[in-house]
Amino acid sequence: MKKILSILALFATIYNCSSCSNNLEIADISSPSGNVKVELILTKNGTAAYRMLFEGKPIIETSTLGFDFKNAPSLSGNLRVISIDTTHFNETWEMPWGDQRYVNNHYKELKVKLQERNQPNREFFIVFRAFDEGIGFRYEFPEQENMKMVTISNENTQFKLTGDHLCWWTPGDWDIYEYLYKTTKISKIDAKQKRKQDLAQTYIPENAVNTPFTMKTQDGIYLSIHEAAVTNYAGMTLKVDTSNYTLQSLLVGTKSGIKVVTQPPFVTPWRTIIVGKKAGDLIESKLMLNLNEPNKLGDVSWFKPMKYVGIWWEMHLDKSTWAMKGGKHGATTENAKKYIDFAAANNIGGLLVEGWNTGWEHWIGFEDREGIFDFVTPYPDYNLAEVVRYAKQKGISIIMHHETSAAPRTYEKQLDTAYALMQKLNIHNVKTGYVGRIIPDSLYHQGQWMVNHYRKVIETAAKYHIAVDAHEPFKGTGEWRTYPNVISREDFRGQEFNAWSVDGGNPPEHLTILPFTAGLAGPMDYTPGIFNIKLKPYKKDNQVNTTLVHQLALYVVIYSPIQMVADLPENYEGNPAFQFIRDVGVDWDQSKVLNGEIGDYLTIARKERGTDKWFVGAVTDENARTITFKLDFLDPNKNYKATLYLDGDDADWDKNPTSYKIIKQDVNSTCELTLKLAPGGGAAISIIPN
Ligand code: NOJ
Ligand code: CA
Repeated sequence: MKKILSILALFATIYNCSSCSNNLEIADISSPSGNVKVELILTKNGTAAYRMLFEGKPIIETSTLGFDFKNAPSLSGNLRVISIDTTHFNETWEMPWGDQRYVNNHYKELKVKLQERNQPNREFFIVFRAFDEGIGFRYEFPEQENMKMVTISNENTQFKLTGDHLCWWTPGDWDIYEYLYKTTKISKIDAKQKRKQDLAQTYIPENAVNTPFTMKTQDGIYLSIHEAAVTNYAGMTLKVDTSNYTLQSLLVGTKSGIKVVTQPPFVTPWRTIIVGKKAGDLIESKLMLNLNEPNKLGDVSWFKPMKYVGIWWEMHLDKSTWAMKGGKHGATTENAKKYIDFAAANNIGGLLVEGWNTGWEHWIGFEDREGIFDFVTPYPDYNLAEVVRYAKQKGISIIMHHETSAAPRTYEKQLDTAYALMQKLNIHNVKTGYVGRIIPDSLYHQGQWMVNHYRKVIETAAKYHIAVDAHEPFKGTGEWRTYPNVISREDFRGQEFNAWSVDGGNPPEHLTILPFTAGLAGPMDYTPGIFNIKLKPYKKDNQVNTTLVHQLALYVVIYSPIQMVADLPENYEGNPAFQFIRDVGVDWDQSKVLNGEIGDYLTIARKERGTDKWFVGAVTDENARTITFKLDFLDPNKNYKATLYLDGDDADWDKNPTSYKIIKQDVNSTCELTLKLAPGGGAAISIIPN
């Protein structure tokens, strides 16, 4: 009774008409500082809707919410309010590893229970959390008589934008994320026209984009739409209505049109909208992580953030092969020892070995991949136990490699035996891969079945104290807060494309876009650090499209607790710039975006955990530019020695990519630095207390 009275009171006090006439605002909630506000609305026909405001102005116009089911009537219209609750939550939690140590999780929550007025009288909650940096909202379905097993055919969550924003997008491909970003207005998105070369699988059913989907309004506000905590659900793409700038959730389905099969009680993933006045605010946001459940694994100190080398780039350059047949096998005991020696001499903690196990003769291009890869049997020229023994003696951890070739059932059958072998050998990291069309053929990489597969891998790996770096994965949705053995992933177009892609590789602007887009989904295994920019003598038609110093800067600009030192050891030997890679940290106390414009430039400073060292990385697109920033993040009571790795005066990503200079300078917190970045260039700085 008390609740009903309070609802009536709410009606009395907050009844008003929002932007569309006849819409009834039911309740609203503002973020702790009041700058973000979200309203729950019932439209004229009783459909649930919401509107979001940033600093008093709409940033999402009234947008409707609802579902279509395969086996039941749609859930839209005819709803009434049953209850309204609000709560205020504030906590600070510690990341076991991360781009910062402590995270503040501060929001106000609005939870509204709605019910259909007519049969079947289904009920559900809509929960909004308003943070100072944006909102998250989700649907929660309690257990109920008139709703048992459901097959969702559409989730109809709208995001009605306030104008024809500038945006950075990749197509809403149900199978792969590895596209270059396009920069257009919303009205010019043409996802189905995107080129599909170089991709082992691709399916773009509609004019839709992938998330995180980042935009800039004409008023200079930045916003990005994504999702958090995707569990037993399908991935979300956003269908674009180019004429009225409206996005609508388009879930990834199966070939038979099923999106999600589930049963109340269940909750959907959080739909997230982060917003800021600076582009860097998007990168600094922890909203997605905060919407995930706290750590379920407890102590994960068996995972150590690290830099790693790999028997990897040499295969992408065709210097060696994954398969043993052909006489150019990369994963030999002898070669692994060479890399281990190199890592041990250069403050690098890990070695990834690809092509160590049988099955590679039957990899790309084969449709009968089921049952081919074996995750316990090494090729005869690779003595796994001996490599592990040698690595241990030198203080190096081995990163196991499991290329599933997109045959997840084959992998699931072997999970326990493969992980038990790793446990026996004291190996705590695995890189997985899912190249190719998923077998069985009815599935796509980003659908519910695969979301559950990736989760099963994570949960099983955790039991064996194994951390997972997934390639061709489901995108990050912040689940590493809950499962801190989810360490990194390649849910974007990585460095590898520079070795073999036929479209010219990743352009100089690529890394000025990624951190503001795909990077918002979490740690990125981009595999930076290529010094032999022109890839000679291995590749005539490919190159890396940045300067060498830009590659150094990526160790700071990109966040990942494992960072590859990707080039061949011989390309680093004797090069003074390599000192930056030796020195740079991988685990951070604090991270600060010093400046940035999406697609133009970005500068980030990070303080290493457990030391007082700071590292700064700056990257620019194809344009040279001068950047200025203050060092006011430094401890005012300390003096530091800065080593600046700068593009040479004549450096250029294409004409002279390896020209650089190293300058040493005394600095403190009152200093300001002005740096020149070459076209496609960057700057990398280590700042170490005296
Ligand atoms: C694609 C991954 O992104 C790459 O890193 C790996 O070398 C190959 N698959 C082989 O597994
Ligand atoms: Ca890949």
